[in-house]
Amino acid sequence: MKDIDQAELSPDDWDELHFPRADHSAFDDVVETAISRRGFVNGVLAFGSGAAVMGTSMLRGTTAMAGQSDRFAFEQLPIQTDGTVHVPEGYEWKVLVRWGDPLFSDAPAFDPATGIPTEGSDRVFGENTDGMELFNIGGGTELIAVNSEYVNTKTNLPENEGGKPASAGDVQRLQNFQGVSVMEVTEGANGWEVVVDSPYNRRIHHNTPMKIDGPAAGHDLLKTDADPTGTASLGTFNNCGSGRTPWGTYLTCEENFNGYFGATEEPTLDEATAAGFKRYGVKTDVDPGRYNYHGFDARFDISKNPNEPHRAGYIVEIDPSDPDSTPVKHTALGRFKHENAACALTPDGRVAVYMGDDERGEFMYKWLSRDKYVPGGDTSTLLSEGQLFVARFDIDMSGEWVALTPAATGMTEAEIAIFSRMAASKVGATTMDRPEWVAVNPQAVEGYCCLTNNKNRGLKPNAGGDDTSPNGPNPREANKYGQIVRWRPHGDTHAANTFDWDLYVMAGNPTNQQGAYKGSSNINAGNMFNSPDGMQFDSTGIMWIQTDGDDDNEGDFAGMGNNQMLAGDPVTGEIRRFLTGPNGSEVTGLTWSADRRTMFVGIQHPAAPFPDGDGSLPRSSIVAVKRTDGALIG
Ligand code: FEO
Ligand code: CA
Ligand code: CA
Ligand code: CA
Repeated sequence: MKDIDQAELSPDDWDELHFPRADHSAFDDVVETAISRRGFVNGVLAFGSGAAVMGTSMLRGTTAMAGQSDRFAFEQLPIQTDGTVHVPEGYEWKVLVRWGDPLFSDAPAFDPATGIPTEGSDRVFGENTDGMELFNIGGGTELIAVNSEYVNTKTNLPENEGGKPASAGDVQRLQNFQGVSVMEVTEGANGWEVVVDSPYNRRIHHNTPMKIDGPAAGHDLLKTDADPTGTASLGTFNNCGSGRTPWGTYLTCEENFNGYFGATEEPTLDEATAAGFKRYGVKTDVDPGRYNYHGFDARFDISKNPNEPHRAGYIVEIDPSDPDSTPVKHTALGRFKHENAACALTPDGRVAVYMGDDERGEFMYKWLSRDKYVPGGDTSTLLSEGQLFVARFDIDMSGEWVALTPAATGMTEAEIAIFSRMAASKVGATTMDRPEWVAVNPQAVEGYCCLTNNKNRGLKPNAGGDDTSPNGPNPREANKYGQIVRWRPHGDTHAANTFDWDLYVMAGNPTNQQGAYKGSSNINAGNMFNSPDGMQFDSTGIMWIQTDGDDDNEGDFAGMGNNQMLAGDPVTGEIRRFLTGPNGSEVTGLTWSADRRTMFVGIQHPAAPFPDGDGSLPRSSIVAVKRTDGALIG
């Protein structure tokens, strides 16, 4: 053995020195199988051949470009490291809307240095755009419902030291910039724009009245002094990814809701509440925190209102076509850090909803409705009566959706809805590498989930103490690049409780890493990326992948450039970069115009001076991307 100073070894290297692993293990075989998709190739090709033909005709548009693969109508965009958006040759982009742009003509004007004042801050497009869906409601009217996930306090309160809220008005401004915007959009001579003062325009924010339904509605843990019924809350929080129902409503997904609550004095908590706060990360120490809502708004002070956090962390349904409708929080779909919600219909018409819980070592879930969706029929029970399941992935590349029932968990229906993470831990769900967006392939009975990264994999348990040793779909310790898992339900129905799985891609860096960190075989020096996050299929069956990762373009991430959007072919596994975001930004949220000639892409938390240039605060934005020849784009 060489002379080694053991004190200078990292813990991993020390482990390796003292407890060397076998060069090759049965586990390595599983990883290899997953990467090569050996177990999947036949099924995917058999189903995918028809999809490929259809996708080719739609994606090629009017001019087939030379040197292209069959499925992508563009050449790969090189990485970028600058302050703007890039798209391939033959495409163009333009800003549709920026944080602070008016939805109503009485909105205050945006000041490049100070942004938007508190008065009127609920009349403008919110900050930090995220998941979105476009709804074609007929008569030529197109509406975009879009999330504003969180706020950069320094950008929103630029005159306050450190961006710290210093008054109830400051808190209200932050509350108004988040939530959901519904807005009519139209394409004219100057491109796409928001229809200011459309009767459909609407801001839903942290104080908008909501209905609560499902098993937790009316439970003691949801009752507050302001709402002794436990069925009517205010606001939707940390609206991250999106979904759309077959009946034309928008699903907004409450993710890191825990961060809005705090304590002004040491709280006295019952055992269930205290355990829940620990698992969900609600801070109980006396501290202003990031937003300090609780310093000025008692609803967010858990020493006064310990049940308020139990009223957030849900899937919320909004009818964009009815500006007077009350959003509904569907507790039956579970309470966790919801990323998005991908709906699929089973052959017999039931509604399956796939969902991820984005936290290190948390789980993936599925909802299955009891009743069938009938176009034009009653949809009121479809997200409240049914069964919630959690995923278990087995090492043999099969898996099971395990029902979260009182018999399986020892918890009541209401407790399962409020403390879904604990219910899932009790049935042995598989700890995942931060499940972000789920997407369902419209051309094949299969689902995909972005597992963005997990520095704790194999090193720390999750917040519930569950072991997070590397496992089937999460095979890499201290996972810094992320992967996308795919599952195919048995019997070709999303109603099935069992499935087969593989990895569609393992991100990595083939230029400077070894072993599994090089990435899977569909990753190369030209298309590499890290931290897959957003994901949507277009109508032709192309999967669009958006990233939210390390964009310093150095070290482990050298050669990956800024965050980006790539197209993935589910049949061949080919992945090609299509768009890059400006420095500092995450690319998140994707939807299409009704005519499929425009794709709308979200740019969240860009660094200054995007998009307005020097001297302006940075503004998260939605950009409209088109082909210069006006052909179809998905
Ligand atoms: Fe809001 Fe997990 O991203
Ligand atoms: Ca995300
Ligand atoms: Ca993310
Ligand atoms: Ca984000």
